Amino acid sequence: FVIVVDFGGQYNQLIARRVRENHVYCEVYPYNKAVEKIKELKPQGVIFTGGPNSVYEDNAPQIEAEVFELGIPVLGLCYGMQFMAHTLGGEVTSAESREFGKTPMKCDLSSLLFKGLSEEEIVWMSHVDYVASIPEGFKVVATTDNCPVAAMENADKKLYAMQCHPEVLHSEHGKEMLHNFLYEVCGLTGTWTMANYAKTAIEDIRNTVGDGKVLLALSGGVDSSVAAALISKAVGSQLTCIFVDHGLMRKNEGDEVEAAFKDSGMHFIRVDAEERFLSKLAGLEEPEAKRKTIGEEFIRVFEDEGRKIGSVDFLAQGTIYPDVIESGAGDAAVIKSHHNVGGLPAVVDFKGLIEPLRNLFKDEVRELGSELGLADYLVWRQPFPGPGLAIRVMGDITKDKLDILRDADWIFREEIANAGLDRSINQYFAVLTNTRTVGVMGDFRTYDYTLALRGVTTTDFMTADWARIPYEVLDKISSRIVNEVQHINRIVYDITSKPPATIEWE
Ligand code: XMP
Repeated sequence: FVIVVDFGGQYNQLIARRVRENHVYCEVYPYNKAVEKIKELKPQGVIFTGGPNSVYEDNAPQIEAEVFELGIPVLGLCYGMQFMAHTLGGEVTSAESREFGKTPMKCDLSSLLFKGLSEEEIVWMSHVDYVASIPEGFKVVATTDNCPVAAMENADKKLYAMQCHPEVLHSEHGKEMLHNFLYEVCGLTGTWTMANYAKTAIEDIRNTVGDGKVLLALSGGVDSSVAAALISKAVGSQLTCIFVDHGLMRKNEGDEVEAAFKDSGMHFIRVDAEERFLSKLAGLEEPEAKRKTIGEEFIRVFEDEGRKIGSVDFLAQGTIYPDVIESGAGDAAVIKSHHNVGGLPAVVDFKGLIEPLRNLFKDEVRELGSELGLADYLVWRQPFPGPGLAIRVMGDITKDKLDILRDADWIFREEIANAGLDRSINQYFAVLTNTRTVGVMGDFRTYDYTLALRGVTTTDFMTADWARIPYEVLDKISSRIVNEVQHINRIVYDITSKPPATIEWE
C-alpha cells in the first residue's frame, strides 16, 4: 500500500492510476494531511507528486521533514523532487528556459529505479526549476542536456527522486520506473486486482449490512450499475434498486438496464415516470429550468417509491475515487447531481451509506464490472447526463422531438461502433437543435430540423477536444440519418473544444 502526496500537480490522479496499474493499492492525500495519514496508515511507500509552485517561495506547499525519517521509501517527482532536495539541504534554482516535452535522459543503471532499462531513456519533462546541488548522502543517477540532476537517490535511506513525469505515457518506460520503485525499493508484490477487490468488498458489504436492507438508485450509468451488481452479489434480495425511467433515456436504454438487472437476485423496480416528467417539462425552454425541474421531480418519484417499500437500513451510492479526491480526500464525498440521489426519501430511516466504489478509478470500476459479469454495453457505457436527452433537445421538449433524437442518436452510435471508434471517442451523441431549415427531398421542399452531432476526446471531461471523425464515417452517418429519420433534413458537426464550449449543449 502506497500513499501519494498531492502537491497540486495536474498529473496527481494519473500517478495513482499508474501505481494501481502496477497492481499496488494507493491512496491520494493532499500535502497538508499527508504526514498524519502516513503515520496512521503506515504505507510501504510514499510518492510526492509535482506541483505548480517553486519550493523556495514563501507560500510553497510543504510537509513536515520527519517524513524522511520514518524509514518508509519516498519517491519525489518533479516538484516532489525539488521539495526533497530543498528540505534536505540541496539547492533548487530557476533555469533560464523551461525544459518541456519528450527528453532523452542518461540513466545510471546501477540505480534500482532504472533496473532493466537502457542507458538512455525518453522521458516527459515539464519544469523551470531544477535541482542545482544535491543534499548530502545523495548521488546523481540521471542527467539530461539541460538538467544536471534529472534523478537522485540516497539508497541507504531509500529516498529517490526524478525530475521527469514517469506517470505520463510520453515517458516511454515510466511505468517500469514506477514498477522498480514499488517492487525493488518498497518490496511490494502487487496483489491489487479487481478479482481480489470484489472478494473483499463483497465480504465487507455482508458484514456491514448483516440482515439489513439496502436501497440504491440505479441510473443505468456505469457507476451505479457496477455498484448494484456488487451489492447484489453480496446481499442478494436484501438490495432494492429503484430505476427511475424518466423517459429521457436513449433508445432501448431503459430496456437494457431492466434486462441486465431484473433477474439478478436483487429486488429491481423500474418506475415508468415518462408522463410525469414530460408534463412537468412541458413548455420549459431555459436549460437551468429544465435541469432543476428534472432534479426535483426525480426526488419526488424516488420518495414516492421509497414510501411504498417501507423502511430500509442503508442507502448505497456509486461514488467513485475522483469525486473523493476532488472533495479533499477523506472528507464526505460530494453527492453528485440528482441522479445519484441528492435528497433522500423522508421515510428512509437509515443506518449509513454504502459506497463500495469509493476507492476506485473509473477504469477500475469498468474492470470490476466485467469481473462481476456485467455486459460490455453497460460496462463501457459513455457518460450520460442525469437530465438525459432533455438537455439534448434544445428548447421545449416533446415526446416527438425526443423520439426523433433517439432514432438519430442510435444511428450515430451504431456507425461509430461500426467504424471501430466507440472506445477512442470518449463521448458522442446527437443534439436536436430548435432550428428548422429548408431542404429538398425528391421534388419537394422540406422544412425540418437541423441535427447536430457532437464527439469529443477527453480524459477528465473538464477539458475536451472535438473528435476528428473521418469524413467517410461522417458521410455515412449523415446520409443514413436523413434517409432513415423523418423530420431531419440537415446535419452539422460540432467543431468546438471545451473550453470555450461545454460538452453538452445545455
Ligand atoms: P459539460 O457539458 O459540463 O459536461 O462539459 C461534462 C460532462 O458531464 C456530463 N454532464 C452531466 N452528468 N449530470 C451528470 O451526471 C448532469 O447534470 C450533467 N451535465 C453534464 C456531460 O455529459 C459530460 O460528460
